[in-house]
Amino acid sequence: MPALQSHHTFALDTHCDKMMIITDPSELKQVDFTQPFCVLGEGSNTIFTASYHGTVLIIANKGMRVEEREQAWLLHCEAGENWHDLVQKTLVLNMPGLENLALIPGNVGAAPVQNIGAYGVELAQFVEYVEGFNLITGKTQKLSSEQCEFGYRDSVFKHQLKGQFIITRVGLSLPKLWQPNLSYGPLQQLDKPTPQQVFDAVVAVRQSKLPDPAVLANCGSFFKNPILPRDQVEQLLALYPTMPSYDVDAENKKVAAGWLIERAGLKGFAIGDIAVHDKQALVLVNRGQGTAQQLLAMVEHIQHTISDKFGVYLEHEVRLMDEQGEFHVRSHHESA
Ligand code: EPU
Repeated sequence: MPALQSHHTFALDTHCDKMMIITDPSELKQVDFTQPFCVLGEGSNTIFTASYHGTVLIIANKGMRVEEREQAWLLHCEAGENWHDLVQKTLVLNMPGLENLALIPGNVGAAPVQNIGAYGVELAQFVEYVEGFNLITGKTQKLSSEQCEFGYRDSVFKHQLKGQFIITRVGLSLPKLWQPNLSYGPLQQLDKPTPQQVFDAVVAVRQSKLPDPAVLANCGSFFKNPILPRDQVEQLLALYPTMPSYDVDAENKKVAAGWLIERAGLKGFAIGDIAVHDKQALVLVNRGQGTAQQLLAMVEHIQHTISDKFGVYLEHEVRLMDEQGEFHVRSHHESA
């Protein structure tokens, strides 16, 4: 049975029935999709908690083509390209725009699924189209940015098109007229920066807080920042005036899950080799010999603690897989 440990950055010791490395999208036509399957890129947002009874399809087609438009550069990027390499390439080519998204682990094809975002910028801002293999029709299909229904760490690929669409190429439009996005705290100190300086600052912030999966196994933010009704946020702020919160829309605000976890005293907390990262409480790490049981106990403990203390339910952002496929841990009290 093929081993999955080196194919997901949380690195639990698991296997799968079969693995196929897809280097050309046409190979997808040969796959028997009536049997259980799971699509994987670099495995930086998926954790295999058990050995998977099905085929793991690793999307690894490479390449990037640049098309010049009057006001923008249109990049046609193959899904198997590494995201950070792409960001670096665009800077070398003097086509800035993606620098705030530097150092996000994973490949290009995975980026639209969770609409990757960091430091005031989201992938959705640049998406011209997402192309993929539609399992229902057996044909290649191109979706517009609107059809992708992007939201906060969300897209149509997690909902209506879940399990039906395999992303093989992403079209990104980078406006020639570049404006830095310095809205995020630590970037505000930059004075008329070049794209490279923004990139360097983002890399420095990330390296100071977020563990490198190649050194310390992790999947980035484990939970989403919860979006709550404004009156609930006001009640929390009355009790905890320093709690970070951000506007979402007229009815809702988003609160910092990392702050809630730290405030609950869980920063650095460990169950076996699974720990809450000591520099960023939203990140869970596997110190080496962590097990799925320890991880699930940790997720439940965090959800219970945050639910008890703040009345807030933390939804995990990371995709958890067991023998049969994806599952969700929803351990909280009904009032949360
Ligand atoms: N905070 C704490 N303690 C912690 C962690 C955070 O007090 O242990 C506070 C921070 O001081 C800050 C606030 O919470 O005031 C937000 O923290 P941070 O700026 O580190 O970002 P985040 O909300 O925890 C999100 C994304 C990250 C992204 C950063 C930067 C999600 C789920 N996560 O994290 O994305 O890099 O913003 O924009 O939205 C990822 O998705 O894997 C990821 C790393």
